[in-house]
Amino acid sequence: MYKINENYLKLPGSYLFSTIGKKVRAFEAANPDKKIIRLGIGDVTQPLAPAIIEALHSAVDEMSQAETFRGYAPDLGYEFLRNVIAQKDYKDRGCAIEADEIFVSDGAKCDSGNIQEIFSVDNKIAVCDPVYPVYVDTNVMAGRTGEYDELTQNFKDVIYMPCLAENGFAPELPTETPDLIYLCFPNNPTGATITKAQLQEWVDYANRVGAVIIYDAAYEAYIVEPEVPHSIYECEGARTCAIELHSFSKNAGFTGVRLGYTVVPKDLKCGDVTLHSLWARRHGTKYNGAPYIIQRAGEAVYSEKGQAQLKEQIAYYQKNASTILQGLKEAGYTVSGGVNAPYIWLKAPNGMTSWEFFDYLLEKANVVGTPGSGFGANGETYFRLTAFGSYENTVEAIDRIKAL
Ligand code: MLT
Repeated sequence: MYKINENYLKLPGSYLFSTIGKKVRAFEAANPDKKIIRLGIGDVTQPLAPAIIEALHSAVDEMSQAETFRGYAPDLGYEFLRNVIAQKDYKDRGCAIEADEIFVSDGAKCDSGNIQEIFSVDNKIAVCDPVYPVYVDTNVMAGRTGEYDELTQNFKDVIYMPCLAENGFAPELPTETPDLIYLCFPNNPTGATITKAQLQEWVDYANRVGAVIIYDAAYEAYIVEPEVPHSIYECEGARTCAIELHSFSKNAGFTGVRLGYTVVPKDLKCGDVTLHSLWARRHGTKYNGAPYIIQRAGEAVYSEKGQAQLKEQIAYYQKNASTILQGLKEAGYTVSGGVNAPYIWLKAPNGMTSWEFFDYLLEKANVVGTPGSGFGANGETYFRLTAFGSYENTVEAIDRIKAL
């Protein structure tokens, strides 16, 4: 008789955004006349930029001719895309990352879930609390976290690093030494950032204790303040301790198109073994590469036209972020984030729990957000709104919240 992976049974409830989706669909079915505004999942709403659409069309045309048709993509990504990423995202920022250290994929969510596979199950992970649930859930599935404790809402063998108002939602170095440290800045869900000097402390710490930092830079395009680093490789010594994850979802609107990349520097070694060789082996075995047409679209993100158009698109979402931030402040809410990030983190009013506030907002204002407790125990009583809606809907949502 076969056996299942019982680690899955340790996962409490369903995936956060599936639970929210279900609740919203039920509300919609019961209230078909209500206009719901969705500021929950961080899904973009603006169409792909014209330069990207042009690249997609032309790549599709190439696929129609025998001479230019492409089959399987190279498993680590096409050279044309890896080269432009290495130049524009790294070398131009003074980071020593080579094209062959970049692994193109179909998105950062998959990579952030899969990367743990190249590490032993004996490793201890440290995560921020609150945290993007994928980091924890995938380690639970792998059997790295121990049992779930209903009372603390924590897994027994995970090091949780509280991110609270008191520490500016930035984690402190843990007292217990981890092997793998997940960091995400600008942060999902709090929208908090850390300075380059603060990130350097993490890099120094990881090198000192022999840990690897898995650095999720999915929201770097939203950074406006000069002291906030765009990449962990801006820090000295990061090549020997850090893996970086990137997404095209939030900087270029690829949530439905799917493209991302992961950087594994060749200096990152466990004894004589490079993590690069393990990730390359995994990629080659389990993955057939992001589609050619999508990688051409990714290349267009870095073109002069693409960059100019995306600057405008990001400015559009940044305007939404400040609309939410200012509007909620005026309405008397305690709010943070939303400056270098598309997420606004607010305290639920009147002692409500995160889910109570979710229901209240859905019923009374027909606005969907994300309950902070879905990101971890320290997210309880907090709530996340995203800036990825349309401007008109964002303004209307804030007006409705103000009117409550
Ligand atoms: C979020 O809402 O946290 C993100 O959009 C989820 C994701 O990127 O997978």
